[in-house]
Amino acid sequence: MSTSIEKELQSEVDKRRTFAIISHPDAGKTTLTEKLLLFGGAIRLAGTVKGRKASKHATSDWMEIEKQRGISVTSSVMQFDYEGCRVNILDTPGHQDFSEDTYRTLTAADSAVMLIDSAKGVEAQTKKLFQVCSKRGIPIFTFINKMDREGRDPFELLEELEEVLGIRSYPMNWPIGSGKQFNGVYDRAQTQVELFQGDEHTNISVRKVDGYEDPLVKEIAGEFLHKKLCEDLELLDVAGDPLDMEKVLRGELTPVFFGSAINNFGVQTFLDNFLQMAPKPEPRNSSAGPIEPTEPKFSGYVFKIQANMNPAHRDRIAFLRIVSGKFERGMAVKHVRVGKEIKLSQPQQFLAQDRDIVENAYPGDIIGLFDPGIFRIGDTLAQGRELEFDELPTFSPELFSKVTVKNALKHKQYQKGIDQLTEEGTIQVFRTIGFEDTILGVVGQLQFEVLEHRMRAEYGVEIQLHRTNYQFARWIVDDKIDPSKFRVNSQLVKDKKDNYVALFENEYALRTSMEKNPTAKFLETAP
Ligand code: G4P
Repeated sequence: MSTSIEKELQSEVDKRRTFAIISHPDAGKTTLTEKLLLFGGAIRLAGTVKGRKASKHATSDWMEIEKQRGISVTSSVMQFDYEGCRVNILDTPGHQDFSEDTYRTLTAADSAVMLIDSAKGVEAQTKKLFQVCSKRGIPIFTFINKMDREGRDPFELLEELEEVLGIRSYPMNWPIGSGKQFNGVYDRAQTQVELFQGDEHTNISVRKVDGYEDPLVKEIAGEFLHKKLCEDLELLDVAGDPLDMEKVLRGELTPVFFGSAINNFGVQTFLDNFLQMAPKPEPRNSSAGPIEPTEPKFSGYVFKIQANMNPAHRDRIAFLRIVSGKFERGMAVKHVRVGKEIKLSQPQQFLAQDRDIVENAYPGDIIGLFDPGIFRIGDTLAQGRELEFDELPTFSPELFSKVTVKNALKHKQYQKGIDQLTEEGTIQVFRTIGFEDTILGVVGQLQFEVLEHRMRAEYGVEIQLHRTNYQFARWIVDDKIDPSKFRVNSQLVKDKKDNYVALFENEYALRTSMEKNPTAKFLETAP
């Protein structure tokens, strides 16, 4: 017999879907997010999320930078209820200047929605984010957006998913025409036609049909488009992959939906199907073995730290992903790394930057904890036991700068600032071997700007950054490492844990280095 808390946990876990939307800037992530929130009644008017993006007042000084450039530096979490599900969307910064935080946020998601612009196909940032999801083996659902515009051929887009990302696909629906000729989609599972009328909210009319050969489809689509539709769908039926849910859940097959977010077309069908297929919170590995979400004892880990949302204080918000048990406001938990009990008294939940105090939360939920400087990325909080969740990966930076301090007397403040920013996970620090020069690595250029700004504003230190040409790093694991063999094509440095890291300017340099060091492993994330 299960106890009432176990029953409560089971039913809350079953309801939860926690996911991130991955895309390249301009694919329509803000638009899609907004439509999803509208379905959940979390916001009333379309434009709200976007409005916030533009008018977000300076909650901290360095957010001025984001305001000036009209982009979002920080990512937040949005929660809404829909059809019996509690949905958590982890927002990931969409601009070119995204950060390591973006990658790390993905480790807190149970699945991902990959949003693709039908005219552009798979773009650079989507590819990077996809690879992080793919490494974790989480399910990935694809929404091909902007079908109301002239786009690429749907088959070509599916081929690109396979060639560029290495994932096979199962189209859940199929477009009838595109651009000006876009009539709607044919829903393969429900055998129905959803008609596109191009006018927000009133655009959906659904016609149940008896397969795609039904004369009604011909009547709706017109002879020319119907012929094309039949050919395409026959080809998919015969030569396409079947919808194998096990493969979907292992991240080997992506269900694909065609639609148009701005017109709200195909969004609801997408949401309905996605929520049905997407996984609920799964067990997470820890030093004590896998932790089931339904275990009554609370546990979770910090995956992101956001600084200075309030400029008057040096406080931070630590984002915690709940793994097991029920969270109750004011509860005492063990901060495992420091070996202390702490009380979680001011937890917060987020909706596009509005913060509400949360009383209860369950596995899959994200809560924001007030952090007076006690948390680090990857910290575990657990109730009444010692366990630590697997360390979060450290991803390769993509931009590297040597740093010098203009006023040598400020070295102490400089060190403090660097330590704090490293803890927040926005920069990585490397030391050159022998010379002990400092090289800083970030994922997006904005992090350097934020760094300079915060060093000046918060620590009174003027720093100078000297950009290098390195483009990525590999962690080197080799028992018999010979630093001289890295000198020509790369720079060998050490990270904060004294691991060897080689910095490269291009793929060619990496390949040459690999040939010269056949016993070494070149890892994309820290060991
Ligand atoms: P992002 O967050 O991924 O960067 O994209 P965002 O939603 O801001 O959308 C980028 C642009 O694409 C916006 O146009 C948006 O209106 C448009 N868009 C989104 N979905 C669709 C769609 O289904 N069809 C078409 N045709 N356009 C779409 P913008 O002109 O840059 O901004 P705005 O002036 O419309 O706000």
